[in-house]
Amino acid sequence: MKDSIKVFAPATVANVVCGFDVLGFAVNEPGDEVIMRLTEKPGIHISKITGDNGRLPLDPKKNTVSVSVEHYLNYIGRPDVGLDIELHKKMPIGSGLGSSSASTVAGLFAAKAILDDRTDLIELLPFARKGEEMACGHGHADNVAPALLGGFVLIRSYEPLDVIKLPHPAGLYCAIVFPDVDVPTREARQIIRTKILMKDAVTQWGNIAGLVSGLFLNDLDLIGRSMQDVLVEPVRSMLIPDFYKMREIAMETGAISFGISGSGPSVFSFTRDEETAKQIAQKLQKQLASIHINSNAYVSPINDEGPKILG
Ligand code: HSE
Repeated sequence: MKDSIKVFAPATVANVVCGFDVLGFAVNEPGDEVIMRLTEKPGIHISKITGDNGRLPLDPKKNTVSVSVEHYLNYIGRPDVGLDIELHKKMPIGSGLGSSSASTVAGLFAAKAILDDRTDLIELLPFARKGEEMACGHGHADNVAPALLGGFVLIRSYEPLDVIKLPHPAGLYCAIVFPDVDVPTREARQIIRTKILMKDAVTQWGNIAGLVSGLFLNDLDLIGRSMQDVLVEPVRSMLIPDFYKMREIAMETGAISFGISGSGPSVFSFTRDEETAKQIAQKLQKQLASIHINSNAYVSPINDEGPKILG
C-alpha cells in the first residue's frame, strides 16, 4: 500500500444546454490535482492549497474536499485514518466548469486509492454531492457524476439517485471558453424561474430526448438541433458578456451547438473535429478581448476516463 498518492480529476460541462441538472460530461482539461498522504495522527489535515488566490479555506471543516472525504471515511468505517491533503487548483473557480467537483472527486478518488478500498466508484457520488451542497447550497450531481465516472452522464433521478452513462459519437470535440468574469453558481441558481409554462416544458423535454437519441444514434445534426434551452439560458445569458455574439461566431465557424457550460460564465461548443474547435476557441477569445475581457480556452474530446492516478 502506498502512503502518498497524486490524483487528477477533470473539469465537466453540466446541463449540456437543455438538460438542467440532469446531463453532464467530462473533458480532458482543465482539472484539479490532489496529493494525499497517510499520516499517523488520525483526522484530516489540509496542508496546502495552490492556484486559488487564497479563496478556499484550509479549515478541514469548511473545505469541500475534506468534508466529502470525512463523510466517505465514516461510510467505510475508517474514521480513525489520518490523511494530509494538498489541493492544487489547475482551473478557475466560479467558472461553470465544475471546479469544486473536480477538487472533491480528486480527493475522494485519492482516499479510496490510498486506502485500497474496493467501494464502487458510484457509491462515492453521495459524498461528492455533499461537497457541491457546501460549495453552492445545492447538491446537483451533473458535475460530480461525470467527473467521477468519466464520459457523458444522465442523472435520471435524484431521489433515489439513478445515474446512467450514455454513449457519444467518437469524434465529438468540445471548445470551451471561460470569460474572466465571476458568476458564482449559488447566485446563478437564484435567478432561475421556479415555475415554467407547459409549452416550454414540452419544448425542453423534446430537446433532452432528442439530444440523448442523437448520442445513441451518432447523429450530430440531431444533437445540434436538440441543444436548445428555453428555460435557463434566456436568464443566465444576461450574466455572460457578448453571449449572443459569441453564439453567432461559433455557429458561423462550424459549431454543432453553442451554449452555457454549467452555470456559466464559461461557454462551449460541440464540433465535428479538433481543428474547428480550435478555430472557435480562438475567435471567441478574440471577441472577448475586443470588449476587454480576458479569457481561457480549452479544446478537448469527451473524457471517458474520469479521475486518474498521476503518481
Ligand atoms: N446544474 C448546475 C447549474 C450546474 O446549472 O446550476 C452548475 O455547474
